[in-house]
Amino acid sequence: MAPKATSSVRDLQEDKPSFGSRFLTDEADVWSQNAWDHVPPPDDQAEAIAISLAKQRSAPVPDEDKQKYNATPARHWDNFYKANASNFFKDRKWLHLEFPELVQAAQSSAGPKTIVEIGCGAGNSVFPLLAENTNPELTIHAYDYSSHAVKLVQTNSLYLSPPCGTMHSAVWDLSSASLPDGLEPGAADIVVLVFVLSALHPDEWPQAVSNIYKILKPGGHVFLRDYGRYDLTQLRFKTGRLLDDNFYIRGDKTRVYFFDQDHNAPPGCPAHPLFAISQLGVDRRLIVNRKRQLKMYRVWMQGKFRKL
Ligand SMILES: C[S@@+](CC[C@H](N)C(=O)[O-])C[C@H]1O[C@@H](n2cnc3c(N)ncnc32)[C@H](O)[C@@H]1O
Repeated sequence: MAPKATSSVRDLQEDKPSFGSRFLTDEADVWSQNAWDHVPPPDDQAEAIAISLAKQRSAPVPDEDKQKYNATPARHWDNFYKANASNFFKDRKWLHLEFPELVQAAQSSAGPKTIVEIGCGAGNSVFPLLAENTNPELTIHAYDYSSHAVKLVQTNSLYLSPPCGTMHSAVWDLSSASLPDGLEPGAADIVVLVFVLSALHPDEWPQAVSNIYKILKPGGHVFLRDYGRYDLTQLRFKTGRLLDDNFYIRGDKTRVYFFDQDHNAPPGCPAHPLFAISQLGVDRRLIVNRKRQLKMYRVWMQGKFRKL
């Protein structure tokens, strides 16, 4: 597991902070609450980025170690879940506000619906949905390439006796050449990707995108939330962590990529678009540590895509 310092950044990063936060109109108010919405980067951001990146680039991960880190990424996530059990990530309750289609699929009258989450971890996105589900025809598939994460899901009491609907979880690698056993192509109405694409090597993206495309029904949706470019956690990486541009190895040996909105299709991705963009945006928040008088500029990407 990551050293404590890494964890304290991580436990903020993947969660959408509490609801009801406000817009910061007067800088003098900044210390009056813990989080502010849509705060633009500070004036010295360009300088801070340049300093951080120059430091990181001055001592990237040596080539011989890169290969080692990229060889068995699932093992590092296994170690992460062994160390943290299901206590690390908070339940993603915000997901239902951001993607109301998930809630609609869980309504009693929604009819047959299939939701597939990939990179489900301990199930912090799917269990809140299953807990609220009143649709007997809802099926949730939750995949992760960490067998330990899947074990955490499979031993959750909601998994063992869902109040309504059906849930299934299995080990599967999103970057593998075949679909999960028992999942028919075109089965899913919705694919959920919460902080998982960032854990893949950029070379794995074309296969991942192709798998997601195959899993979805025509017109099916992808809901995505992931790390944004120049997020605080990217700028905090020290020397010896840079694997490739915007791609890092954490202290616990898990990998993380920071996306931006204008991301070009990587080489190997099809020339014709597979998805229409229904929504794509950068979510910026200023998180404030009032006690330590710290300002933390967080950046996430969020998108909805529709299979063409
Ligand atoms: C940052 S965690 C997010 C977990 C969960 N989505 C959540 O929001 O709580 C990333 C997860 O993606 C999984 N993962 C990373 N690469 C994967 C891959 N190629 N195939 C399947 N799962 C993967 C990891 O094992 C880990 O559980």
